[in-house]
Amino acid sequence: MHEKIEQIKRQFFADIKQIKSLDDLEKLRVKYLARKGAVSDLFEALKDVAAEEKPKIGKLLNDLRSSAQSEFERLRGEIEQALKPKELPFDITLPGRPKPVGTKHPVTQSMDEFKRIFVGMGFSVVHGPEIESDYYNFEALNFPEDHPARDMQDTFFIYGTKVVLRTHTTPVQIRIMEKQKPPVRAIMPGRVFRNEAVSPRSLVLFHQVDGIYVDKGVTFSELKGTVVSFARQYYGTKIEYRFRPSFFPFTEPSAEMDIRCYICGGKGCRVCKHSGWLEIVGSGMVHPHVLKRVGYDPDEVSGFAFGFGVERPLMLKYDINDIRLLYENDVRFLKQF
Ligand code: DAH
Repeated sequence: MHEKIEQIKRQFFADIKQIKSLDDLEKLRVKYLARKGAVSDLFEALKDVAAEEKPKIGKLLNDLRSSAQSEFERLRGEIEQALKPKELPFDITLPGRPKPVGTKHPVTQSMDEFKRIFVGMGFSVVHGPEIESDYYNFEALNFPEDHPARDMQDTFFIYGTKVVLRTHTTPVQIRIMEKQKPPVRAIMPGRVFRNEAVSPRSLVLFHQVDGIYVDKGVTFSELKGTVVSFARQYYGTKIEYRFRPSFFPFTEPSAEMDIRCYICGGKGCRVCKHSGWLEIVGSGMVHPHVLKRVGYDPDEVSGFAFGFGVERPLMLKYDINDIRLLYENDVRFLKQF
C-alpha cells in the first residue's frame, strides 16, 4: 500500500508537469482527484489495510490528497491568469492630449513652391552668401560707380568697409558662372537686405528668387516662355500677362512682366494702384559686360536672367496688409497658413 501511494504520487506530479491547458487540467482532475479517480481509489483501499497500519497510511493518503489538490489549484490559477487579457499600464478611455503640429512659415512655403516649379523645368538650386563684397553685389553686375543703388541710403555696409549685406540675390549669378562653364541653369533663392524705412509695405529684410540660364543660342523668347510657364504654375493657367521694357544694369534688353490684377480683375483697385496690373518679375538678357566678367564669350553664348520678389505676391495672395506680420512670428498669425 505504501508503495502504491508513492507510485500514484510520482505519477501525479509527473503528469501535472505536462499540462498546458484548462482542458488537460480537467482530465488530470478526473484521473486523480474526482470521485472515481486514482486518489479516491486509494482511500477506498484503506479499509482493507491492517488496523495498526491505518493511521500511518491514512496520514500518507491525506498528505497526498492535499498536496495534489493544492498543486492542482496553483496550476489552475496560473493558467487562468495567463489567459486573462493583460492589464494595460494606462487608461485607454482617457482622451488624448493634443500635440500641436507646426507648419512651415508662409515665406518658406512660397520659396519651396518656387523651387518645385523651377526644378521641374530643369533648373538647379544654388545659394550664395548674405554678406557680399561690393564686387559681386554691384561691380560685376555692371552697376556704374555713381549708380544710386550703391548709395548709403539703400545699402547696408559693414562699417568702414565696402562689404555689404546683399541687396539682391543677383550676385549669386556671378558666383555660379565663375565656377561653372555654360550651360548654366539655376535659381538662387535667399534673403536680401535694404536700408529702407520700415513700413507696412517695406522691411529691411525680404526674400528674392533669382534665376539664370546661359548656353549657346539662348533667346529672349525662351525667357518669356520660362517666366510665363512659371506664372501659370504659380498663379494659375488663366492668368493674363504682359511684358514691359525696363532697365537693369546687368541685363540688355530688360523687361518686366505684369499679370492682370487678380484682386480687381483689371478694373483697378488699391492693390494694383489702379493700373489693373501687378508687377511680378524683373528680367532680361544677360548683359555682354557681365558675361565677359566671368570669362564667357558673348559671341559664343547668351543667356537670360530674372528676379522674383517673394513677400509681395504672398501678401497679395493671402490679403496680408502689413509685411511686418510675416516677421513677428506670432503663432496666431502663422498657423493660418
Ligand atoms: N536684382 C533685381 C532687383 O533686386 C531684380 C532682377 C531683375 C534680377 C532682372 C534679375 C534680372 O536677375 O535679370 O530689383
